[in-house]
Amino acid sequence: MEQKRYGHFDDQHREYVITDPQTPWPWINYLGNEDFFSLISNTAGGYSFYKDAKFRRITRYRYNNVPMDNGGRYFYIKDGDTVWNPGWKPCKTPLDFYECRHGMSYTRITGRKNGVEASVLFFVPLKKWCEVQKLTLKNESAETKTLKLFSFEEWCLWNAATDMENFQRNFSTGEVEIEGSTIYHKTEYRERRNHYAFYHVNTEIQGFDTDRETFVGLYNEFADPQAVMEGKPRNSHAHGWSPIASHYIEVTLKPGESRDFVFLLGYIENEQDEKFSAPQVINKQKAHALIAELDTTEKVDKAFAELCEYWDSLLNIYKVQTGNDKLDRMVNIWNQYQCMVTFNFSRSASFFESGVGRGMGFRDSNQDLVGFVHQIPPRARQRIIDIASTQFPDGGCYHQYQPLTKRGNNDIGGGFNDDPCWLIFGTVAYIKETGDFSILDEMVPFDNQPGSEVTLFEHLKISMDHVIKNLGPHMLPLIGRADWNDCLNLNCFSWDPNESFQTTENVSEGTKAESLMIAGLFVVTGKDYVALCKKIGKTAEAERMQQAVDAMIEAVKKHGWDGEWYLRAYDFYGRKIGSNECEEAKIFIESQGWCTMAEIGAEEGMVAKSLDSCKKYLECEHGMVLNNPAFTKYIYEYGEISSYPEGYKENAGIFCHNNPWVIIGECLAGRGNDAWSHYAKILPSYVEEKYQTLHKVEPYVNCQMVAGKDAFKPGEGKNSWLTGTAAWMWYTVSEFILGIKPDYDGIRIDPCLPETASDYTVNRKFREAEYDITIHPNGQQKGVKAITLDGNPIDGTVIPYSPGKHTVEVTM
Ligand code: GLC
Ligand code: GLC
Repeated sequence: MEQKRYGHFDDQHREYVITDPQTPWPWINYLGNEDFFSLISNTAGGYSFYKDAKFRRITRYRYNNVPMDNGGRYFYIKDGDTVWNPGWKPCKTPLDFYECRHGMSYTRITGRKNGVEASVLFFVPLKKWCEVQKLTLKNESAETKTLKLFSFEEWCLWNAATDMENFQRNFSTGEVEIEGSTIYHKTEYRERRNHYAFYHVNTEIQGFDTDRETFVGLYNEFADPQAVMEGKPRNSHAHGWSPIASHYIEVTLKPGESRDFVFLLGYIENEQDEKFSAPQVINKQKAHALIAELDTTEKVDKAFAELCEYWDSLLNIYKVQTGNDKLDRMVNIWNQYQCMVTFNFSRSASFFESGVGRGMGFRDSNQDLVGFVHQIPPRARQRIIDIASTQFPDGGCYHQYQPLTKRGNNDIGGGFNDDPCWLIFGTVAYIKETGDFSILDEMVPFDNQPGSEVTLFEHLKISMDHVIKNLGPHMLPLIGRADWNDCLNLNCFSWDPNESFQTTENVSEGTKAESLMIAGLFVVTGKDYVALCKKIGKTAEAERMQQAVDAMIEAVKKHGWDGEWYLRAYDFYGRKIGSNECEEAKIFIESQGWCTMAEIGAEEGMVAKSLDSCKKYLECEHGMVLNNPAFTKYIYEYGEISSYPEGYKENAGIFCHNNPWVIIGECLAGRGNDAWSHYAKILPSYVEEKYQTLHKVEPYVNCQMVAGKDAFKPGEGKNSWLTGTAAWMWYTVSEFILGIKPDYDGIRIDPCLPETASDYTVNRKFREAEYDITIHPNGQQKGVKAITLDGNPIDGTVIPYSPGKHTVEVTM
């Protein structure tokens, strides 16, 4: 079936261009790269926060509401009797032209109505705590236009959770100040807060509003606020209830004339003894200074140019040219961009995650690291230290931590037995990229307790030991609360709908529940750990761990193989999960991915059989499902996984995150055709071409889950943006398909390609070096025959690192 299209890629500008505001779901973008962040939809919906979407939410947003995507930064233009918004919403007045361009940390929304064009550029300038909204109004008609312009933002009273559950308090605490063209939001500033927000415009205003009820009207909506419909601001001053910020500006434009307005949504922190300039009056010095930095079009354009240069530099580190647009645009632009966004937001704030429930995941953040470590190594370094600081002395760890406090999240606790291994995964990736072994000597506390510090290396060691000390009856890792699959809750046993599978009692006494996913993960990260120990001269430790890895490999071969694929787990009672003997869910993807990546039993043919089974039982038109057949009933011993209807989420959904594991398994096995076909199925640019309507969510990034073959609507995507899929897709394509792999002593070249691949080049900056690499596949799927470095042949497949510019030719 031909699918309706809502937009297209513009690779030259690194933008996705949306041409119809009524996308099948809001298609969003993220603004901000450090500290100040915003989410913005293609109709200007969304919100802003400082560092933490729960504790420092600046503007309000209504999740899960009717209509969808409710609340945002809205500009109302009243032209005679017509009121419209450049982004179509919330008035939904039909526009003569609409376009939304989502770019690298900016969004530009343009609307035209009755001869007037309004174009708004939204971005967060580098290192500044504010969102810029540069609005350009242009009269394209033949007559002079007098327009009434209203801006609109609604303040969130900081803690997004109380805003939803304890609003009786909020109704009495809201406070604002108005000074010239700036509206200040200072709720709770009189007591313990040392921060406030402001909304400013760089022109004189003819009115304002700060009280929502007065501006909108109690029985009106964002679509028809009374003040706007009547063309009359009320100059309201909020006391309690729901404070907002709206500027009113009268604009007269001659034919052909255009005018810029710079709106600024800012966040300020003051020292305790400098909070007030007079009793009850907030100290506005820093706000004035910030405004002065961005109060003209020229200054804003300069800040925008700097942002664009910043993204140029980030995207200049790994550049591929294959001649296949769909591949190049994902590798060079969107996949790397999504990696940066997931690094910044972990799984906390999207249009599917409210920003209230989740902080930064321990395992998630470690995996996210491989997606951006090449771009901003210093921040990766800090992230590793932050994560490790939430570990417990026994190697276990908090499953999540809050970004603002960097403290472990007590509500969720720990006990996910895969978590510790990921620290090795992240750290090794960092050292290979940077060559910075000194991170291993950093002193890092346990559970953030001062005085408990040991070296980061020690944290890695206890991470490995945590697995070894928690083995089950088959000498396979005990699963704990869950492994990577949060929903495989083998020790939980819940009949109570009011308890969470993730936090309910974790029955560890008497458990025989073991995980083959952790077994594979342990072997993969264990090999890395051994190599690292050897590299830094810890030979005895390397030997000790090699033995543990070998023992694990034996345990998997002996107790983890089902004949055609790897088992998934043993349950509490020691019964097989993911076996041909099972009634449902006979095969799972996670253990196939990790055990093939670990190459366990490759000589015995296990790897090849497992990969074949993935093709046979898991693959469908839209990717590989998580398990097959899907569970059709709730299984008390398995937990949340079987709570989902068939084909969704962890019950046989295409959980995109784990597809790359099998793809890497394919690459290691040298099966380039298969690797590529799996990869292309979930590559957004391919999906974009065929399935915009069915897929529903943003076509420029991966989503967490696509409905699987057993679902009501296979191919429908959900939970977009914040997913480990981003980092795994990047890791897979950059290192295993295109084959450019950072290593301690240089760059290893080992592509795995479809037979049809043509010659391609990769420009890779690496530490102080830059490599221009040309690869001649010659119809081979795998196997490098010869490499020359600056014209001279080298031995092996690792280009030894040396600073400077180099040319590399690779023949397969
Ligand atoms: C979500 C979680 C991730 C987990 C996955 C599978 O993506 O963020 O930590 O591994 O679901 O359950
Ligand atoms: C997994 C799911 C996620 C869910 C979590 C806790 O991570 O993918 O959606 O919130 O488990 O149930």
